[in-house]
Amino acid sequence: MKEKEVIHEIEKYITKKFAFDTTGHNAEHMYRVAKMVKFLAIHEESDHFVCEISGWVHDLIDEKLTDNPEREKQQMLQLLQKLQLSQQQIVAIFEAIITVSFRKQKTPTTKVGQIVQDADRLDALGAIGIARAFSYGGSKHRPIYKGEERTDDQSTVQHFYDKLLQLKEQMHTTTAKKIANDRHEFLHTFLEQFKREWYFLDEGNF
Ligand code: ADP
Ligand code: NI
Repeated sequence: MKEKEVIHEIEKYITKKFAFDTTGHNAEHMYRVAKMVKFLAIHEESDHFVCEISGWVHDLIDEKLTDNPEREKQQMLQLLQKLQLSQQQIVAIFEAIITVSFRKQKTPTTKVGQIVQDADRLDALGAIGIARAFSYGGSKHRPIYKGEERTDDQSTVQHFYDKLLQLKEQMHTTTAKKIANDRHEFLHTFLEQFKREWYFLDEGNF
């Protein structure tokens, strides 16, 4: 089977699996991560075929997204075998995706794993990262912001300080670090403007 056909089959499988997700892990997230992973793999001289597949499937066996990770693992294994991937490729893919979640704070042991984790984290930064954060917060009925003076803050803006602004320092590859710097700056720009509007700081300028 040609590499392109394999990727196409995996894309179809994932698009069907994540069609109804509302937690920021829909098929478009898988698509963006797969494309970013491929880009990073080329720049980092890693196996872009194995990387791209790992990007597509990276959230498939996450405990928070499925009530039966073991079943998902078995189904994924069957698919990869049906698509005639080698045992070595299959092992590399499983190794990579087991460590991907930034919530679990695991450190990938392979280059493919590092690339997939970088790409997943990049999708939580920049304009798309901001959109995903507010979408996630909305799905949990969280306020957008409560004001700086509030304690025990469960707002989405607080999530920027708790998680998103730390991600830049946690990138593994040089290419992802550069992209993360850019997207990190954009978060700061957004937060500055957000606070100016929240506290009416620009009133005198108009
Ligand atoms: P992972 O990507 O490892 O599955 P998460 O489920 O924590 O990790 O994050 C998925 C997306 O949801 C990210 O874009 C993240 O910023 C967002 N998100 C997670 N927790 C929160 C939160 N408490 N408030 C706002 N957004 C969140
Ligand atoms: Ni993800």
